[in-house]
Amino acid sequence: MSGTRENWTSRSGFIIAAVGSAVGLGNIWRFPYVAYENGGGAFLIPYLLALITAGLPLLFLDYATGHRSSGSPPKAYRALFKGGETLGWWQVCVCIIIGLYYASVLTWAGSYVYFSIGQAWGSDPESFFFNTYLQTSKATGFDLQFVSHLFWPIVGIWALTLIILFGGVKKGVELSNKIFMPLLFVLFTILVVQSLRLPGAAEGLNAFFTPNWSAMMDYKVWLAAYGHTFFSLSVGFGIMVTYASYLKPKTNLTGSGLIVGFANASTEILAGIGIFAALGFMAHAAGKEVQDVVSGGIGLAFIAFPKIISSLGTGADLFGLLFFSSLFVAGISSMVSILEVPIAAMQDKLKWSRKKAVTIIGGGSALVSVILFSSVNAIKLVDIVDHFINNIGIVGGALVSILCITWFKRSALIELRDHVNRISTIQLGKGWAFTLTVITSLVLLTTLSMTLFNLVRNGYDTYSMSLQGLFGWGSVIFCAVVAIVLSKVKDR
Ligand code: ALA
Repeated sequence: MSGTRENWTSRSGFIIAAVGSAVGLGNIWRFPYVAYENGGGAFLIPYLLALITAGLPLLFLDYATGHRSSGSPPKAYRALFKGGETLGWWQVCVCIIIGLYYASVLTWAGSYVYFSIGQAWGSDPESFFFNTYLQTSKATGFDLQFVSHLFWPIVGIWALTLIILFGGVKKGVELSNKIFMPLLFVLFTILVVQSLRLPGAAEGLNAFFTPNWSAMMDYKVWLAAYGHTFFSLSVGFGIMVTYASYLKPKTNLTGSGLIVGFANASTEILAGIGIFAALGFMAHAAGKEVQDVVSGGIGLAFIAFPKIISSLGTGADLFGLLFFSSLFVAGISSMVSILEVPIAAMQDKLKWSRKKAVTIIGGGSALVSVILFSSVNAIKLVDIVDHFINNIGIVGGALVSILCITWFKRSALIELRDHVNRISTIQLGKGWAFTLTVITSLVLLTTLSMTLFNLVRNGYDTYSMSLQGLFGWGSVIFCAVVAIVLSKVKDR
């Protein structure tokens, strides 16, 4: 049916799905490596400040925006201010791009569940990950040479995602989360407890929890913290707008938001504890400092963990299974939420049936994703696209939504606040409005300007300009062009 909008069965169904969306690869794969790269203990304080000054206020704003108009981002922002539809489509495109590479990292997680049995990575997990498994190209330019063993798993990930999405909001998204979330909770709890029992765990925790004041002077640590918060909470790129649009008219929005925010932050910090405890174990065994024990970066989960798992002796297989299954289960529920955004948007705009939207949007994305990410360039593309789309796509979209609502159309902010307060227990007051108008806006404005300045001047990492241009800047330009074009298309 194209005309009727689905709802969650209950508020708890929504909360489970929203937690399922927020808790994902961001928490278990991305957070620990971003924290490790940004000095471990240097990262926790900026992260928490970013959560309080930007993540949570924006989470409430996203909920209010989606719930008030019962619409996906283009419809919801259009109802709030002139030009809002373009912003909505920008967020939709950001989701499409994230979905493409998210499937790739999920594929690695799924494959590593299998590799855990008997520790297929052998004695050199780093070389196994980059050379044997990903067959990473040595060429600096564009290379889409096919890697056959990446192909079927990524096809499988897309098939699973689309099957869930075909099921609809209640019988697909909500039901799958009701299965995945308790499973994740059990797997993850065992995993963290196991990590804490490793010899040397305390050294790792010290590295994680000891604030490193001098490293905090580095503005890049702050950029990373703000860039990560939105990705992790699923805010600023349309997911929470869309999920809130499926809520019944009378729902306690702020109460739900606090539960989701708390659940997400706790999982993230627990993941940090688990990984740093395990890094402490490695440091202890190698007689090194925690900061020097592995090369950080995007491969941390796929290199450090296998090293740790192999050194465990008895129970190694089980530990590996737990870690990579948690990663997989957390990721698949977020993957579904990412794709839900463009699907809902097409249903709203062109009155497509769900089946048609899933087939065209999901099928098209799957095709592009499979071609790009079953290639020898998979990890480079993940890294480049993730960096550009997080720091420009998400932060930029979040900033524009906040500026438009708080600076340029103040009445929209008042309307949203009154809407939330009519139906919620915890009331949004002057503090929330002030934080968004002044603190979040200025911090994001600074963050985005510095990111752009840095990227234009120095580029990202050591990747070739052709790869950065095509996939980094290319993703940003794609979002801008498609957003402008789609906002000109007439509604059906
Ligand atoms: N919020 C999702 C994650 O953390 C996208 O992975």
